[in-house]
Amino acid sequence: PGTAVRRDRFSGGPAREFLSSLAADEAIFAADLAVDRAHVVMLAEEGILEPDVAGGILSALAAVEADGHDALSEGEDVHEAIETAVIDRIGPDGGRMHTARSRNDEVATCIRYRLREDLLELAEATLALREALAATAREHAGTTMPGYTHLQSAQPTTVAHHLLSYESAIARETARLLDAYDRTNRSPLGAAAFAGTPFAIDRERTAELLGFDGIVENSMDAVSARDFLVEAAATIASLATTLSGLAEDLIVFANKGFLELDDDYASTSSIMPQKKNPDTLELTRGAAGDAIGELTGVLTALKGLPRAYNRDLQGVHPGVFEIAGLVRDATDVAGGAVATAEWNADALAEAAGGGFSTATGVADLLAMAGLPFRSAHEIVAHAAASIEDATDADSTATVLDAAAEDVLGESLFEYVDRADLESVLDPNVSVASRDSAGGPAPEAVDDALSSVDSAIAAD
Ligand code: ARG
Repeated sequence: PGTAVRRDRFSGGPAREFLSSLAADEAIFAADLAVDRAHVVMLAEEGILEPDVAGGILSALAAVEADGHDALSEGEDVHEAIETAVIDRIGPDGGRMHTARSRNDEVATCIRYRLREDLLELAEATLALREALAATAREHAGTTMPGYTHLQSAQPTTVAHHLLSYESAIARETARLLDAYDRTNRSPLGAAAFAGTPFAIDRERTAELLGFDGIVENSMDAVSARDFLVEAAATIASLATTLSGLAEDLIVFANKGFLELDDDYASTSSIMPQKKNPDTLELTRGAAGDAIGELTGVLTALKGLPRAYNRDLQGVHPGVFEIAGLVRDATDVAGGAVATAEWNADALAEAAGGGFSTATGVADLLAMAGLPFRSAHEIVAHAAASIEDATDADSTATVLDAAAEDVLGESLFEYVDRADLESVLDPNVSVASRDSAGGPAPEAVDDALSSVDSAIAAD
């Protein structure tokens, strides 16, 4: 009596390595120890374990923790291996640790415990990136730059407006991460294999000891559910996708000479000594591929799985932990690159008016003077064919007037003053006039900047 019967069924043979998740389980080693402790404390509190047995198990767990994951030897996974290590230390009573639970609820709890940490670290990384974006925006509130659609020069904007567009997007990523955290933060422990247990356990107590907000109620749902991994992977993929756009913009801007990356965020070539390459941003851009692939992998693995536990599940979570770490690092790197890059205000100002980027402003001016916007658009489009850029305001005004004669059969100056027309050809005037809510005009950007710090602090 009291002698542990070692598992001898399905535990050996050529498939043993294939079955084992012990190496990947390093990611949940700390989580498993926490889960074991909480479970043992609850069992003792409920009188299911003798206090001295519980004490013995807890000290054995401390020794297992001190030895670390690498010291584990026996078992197809970390749960078995830790139990074996406890039994090796204190004898058969160590096997009482697994009373009223299964590896099914145990692993589900471990994954959630570990993922909570990943989600919080990711959320923190987004806050640091948002701070970097806001601080750089504040420095460059008045730095005019070209804005693009289809990568073609479109309308002038400012560095601040551009960077704050990413701050707004990353703020939604923070919110998504925190939402995912809320649904992850529920304890499956005590669901046992799926059918609960006849022992008088207290699931709420283990949930509390492990810092969960509550339990995953239905015991079959508790062991089967991995939708929290779908949500985490989707959220991480969304963040990575947003980051990839930011990285791409910075790569293009570096290429155009609009900014220079700090050496810390660049790399060089092993053969071409003159090269300064934006490698960190390229890796950041590439991380989205890993994250999207992982999301697809998680969904594919889960699709069509029947209730309750199936071993397919063992392969699902390790990749989510990996993209969590990768995208957290990418977020940190993007923040560092933004905070340290030197923007070239002169190159930006020169390019801001390029490609007749103030054409929309001319059409707006004519429409404000009473012409239907479509007619205004037609006049400016007609002129645009012969305007390379609008840096020479006087000759541009003349070309525009000729276009009006062609299209309308009357002079533009029946509608607008020549001085007003020449003025809207200035990219800075264009930016200053676009003061609608959320626009690039300094007042609108000031409004955005005045709320951004408190929004970051609130998150
Ligand atoms: N290592 C397994 C996993 O990660 C633990 C659960 C094993 N349960 C079972 N019934 N075979 O999913």
